[in-house]
Amino acid sequence: MNRPAFAETNVTFTPEQLIMLEDAVSGLSSTPKTLPSKYFYDEEGSRIFDEITELPEYYPTRTEAEIMTESGQEIADALGEKVLLIEYGSGSSIKTRILLDRLCNMSAYVPVDISGDYLQQTAAKLRSDYPHIRISPVVADFTQPFPLPSSAEPAGRPVTYFPGSTIGNFTKGEATRILKQMASVCGLTGGVLIGVDLLKSRDVLLSAYNDSQGVTARFNLNLLHRLNRELGADFAVDQFRHEAVFNEEESRIEMHLISTKSQVVCINDTLIRFDQDETILTEYSHKYTLDSFAALAAAAGLETRCVWTDSDSLFSVQYLVPSG
Ligand code: SAH
Ligand code: AVI
Repeated sequence: MNRPAFAETNVTFTPEQLIMLEDAVSGLSSTPKTLPSKYFYDEEGSRIFDEITELPEYYPTRTEAEIMTESGQEIADALGEKVLLIEYGSGSSIKTRILLDRLCNMSAYVPVDISGDYLQQTAAKLRSDYPHIRISPVVADFTQPFPLPSSAEPAGRPVTYFPGSTIGNFTKGEATRILKQMASVCGLTGGVLIGVDLLKSRDVLLSAYNDSQGVTARFNLNLLHRLNRELGADFAVDQFRHEAVFNEEESRIEMHLISTKSQVVCINDTLIRFDQDETILTEYSHKYTLDSFAALAAAAGLETRCVWTDSDSLFSVQYLVPSG
């Protein structure tokens, strides 16, 4: 151990940071060590994610945007008129613009994201580019119930939009709960438009998550920088390295931060011991077949009405409606 047993911290936490502290200490005290992937997304993490979406190896964003562009009108027609579009994990809302350009008589657009400052910046740009659409952002953790803003109330038909295959970042149980919650938001007349990444060769997957420029590594390591910045933790970030592996049995990428030496890290006043090569599991990214995703949707009371894919079947955009 190379530091006093109790590091002094002098940090005042917001209620959100207190929850992050509890989550971090609990995840890092478990075996194997974990950290929730939602904490990737402070302002810096959201910016690095946008860099990932531009990488040659990271096919999902490019492919989903291609599908949305090619089939945009058909997708807008499937959603119908007077839509109240509620987007989960909206980030920079880039692909959403393809919908905003095509949907007729939208009631409002409600982007929901945990990355508050980034969300407000995105909403400001959208308001200036789409002055005729009511834009009502909500800063929230979408895994918990959250109220829709009263400004979105002149109600249209609720359609939840969940692009990017962010659904893949959740376990099957969590994903079912999120889809059920979406189904209840949509009621009988709405639907769920969702981007779902498809299972493909291990090599393509591994290079998408271990890119040659090290951007995904920076994204992953930013999690430790964030704990240092916001919780006064003392991770020696250069003593951790990024690695993504593919778990064939579970059909998912698993992202890890690996301690390159035996060390002790202090968060608030909790000491966390790392062996050399011990890992922190930071993210799952599940890959589905059309059948395995239809089964997940069915468990949440939803059925597949339309599926759009690219010519190489790398990615899918799906419109789900309540099972009849
Ligand atoms: N939809 C965009 C961004 C995907 S990145 C796209 O398709 O490119 C995942 C987004 O979900 C980030 O903007 C992140 O801040 C947000 N996010 C992740 N977990 C979240 C949670 N639990 N609650 C709300 N937003 C979350
Ligand atoms: C947001 N989410 C769908 C991304 C993914 O591909 O699972 C997050 C990401 N992690 C590493 N690269 C991108």
